[in-house]
Amino acid sequence: MGRRFKDPSLRRSLALFRAFLHEQGDPEACYALLALDAADQVEAYDGPVAGRTVVDVGGGSGYFTEEFRRRGAHAYLFEPDVRELGAKPPDGTVVADGYLLPLSDGVADVTFSSNVLEHVADPQTFLSELARVTRPGGLIYVSFTNWLSPWGGHEWAPWHYLGAERARARYRRRTGKAAKHTLGENLFAVHIGATLRQVRARDDVTVVAARSRYWPFLDRAVVKAPGIRELATWNLLLILRRCPR
Ligand SMILES: C[S@@+](CC[C@H](N)C(=O)[O-])C[C@H]1O[C@@H](n2cnc3c(N)ncnc32)[C@H](O)[C@@H]1O
Repeated sequence: MGRRFKDPSLRRSLALFRAFLHEQGDPEACYALLALDAADQVEAYDGPVAGRTVVDVGGGSGYFTEEFRRRGAHAYLFEPDVRELGAKPPDGTVVADGYLLPLSDGVADVTFSSNVLEHVADPQTFLSELARVTRPGGLIYVSFTNWLSPWGGHEWAPWHYLGAERARARYRRRTGKAAKHTLGENLFAVHIGATLRQVRARDDVTVVAARSRYWPFLDRAVVKAPGIRELATWNLLLILRRCPR
């Protein structure tokens, strides 16, 4: 399937934003568009995925895996939380933690992880495992919502700017239900500056691109501005390439 929208572009960002606004009412449409968009991004950096092995780590209910399969990839979902899998996960889904994938070294042509890094306590160990299962020269797609992003507090955003506990309490008061995320348990304060420094210092991957995943313009420039990037990037997309061993 060809690219739907130019990336970055205003049309694309608006389409994604509209889909996010309707996420609760129409999750199918929202995640289908997000999957299409992410698969387009992978192909823009690495060529068609058809015939390649794609490993989707922390892929939730499997929209991304399904999209990669539609494009002819041998795509597999690895998700540790059975509650996230939904009623009909892709065939062959493996319940597994991203820290310890049941895969041999270098099996994946593409290792894909969307919005998982901020949910793990030790992002660098998680990245080591993604790198381990990727073949030398293979592509690693990692995106995450950083803590100081307006969406950093997830369902209790943007009130996280006033403190996580206060934001959680407000969420419960307003909705009458407990928030899904607790800072330090299943959501962690990941910052762009620190992550970039750590990733650039690694010897198992090189950074092909560091950009805002959703921004319509200045998507790379915004990531270069210390301080501002923590507020303005929203979601950092890292395209990494596995170094030869
Ligand atoms: C916000 S959801 C993102 C789901 C999907 N990747 C997406 O972009 O829509 C975060 C996912 O990370 C998964 N996750 C949390 N800790 C993980 C770990 N240690 N290894 C792999 N996945 C993990 C969660 O179970 C959940 O499915």
